[in-house]
Amino acid sequence: MRRIVAYIRPHKLEEVKTALAERGVTGITVTEARGCGSSEEQSDWFLGKEYVVSLPPRLKLEVVLKTGAVEDAIQAILQSARTGRAGDGKIFVLPELDVIRIRTGERGEAAL
Ligand SMILES: Nc1ncnc2c1ncn2[C@@H]1O[C@H](COP(=O)(O)OP(=O)(O)OP(=O)(O)O)[C@@H](O)[C@H]1O
Ligand SMILES: [Mg+2]
Repeated sequence: MRRIVAYIRPHKLEEVKTALAERGVTGITVTEARGCGSSEEQSDWFLGKEYVVSLPPRLKLEVVLKTGAVEDAIQAILQSARTGRAGDGKIFVLPELDVIRIRTGERGEAAL
């Protein structure tokens, strides 16, 4: 199993969620975050206006899925989260050791 952690622009959430759902992704956690990347963040757009922001808001998406489903999910996020401008975000992939569904005690992929 793998955990995908993706930092995306907040206004892209619905598009990304839909793209992931279309590829069979069910479980997802979204957390409000702020951050910056490797390129200096000079400005960001809000309500059609450009503002200088040092740590603009981003959403942190976490999805744990079977290893074989990772590439599909990455493509879904790439296509739905990209605007082409600096600050579009980043996707990290981590190993996931175990998952336990609390209601049933199921473990591993069966619990995803
Ligand atoms: N190395 C990192 N570690 C943790 N979070 C990161 C890292 N890089 C980016 N992020 C997160 O992703 C968000 C967007 O990053 P961003 O897209 O600006 O990366 P970048 O490397 O500067 O690429 P770009 O040149 O396209 O702007 C950041 O606000 C931050 O939340
Ligand atoms: Mg950047």
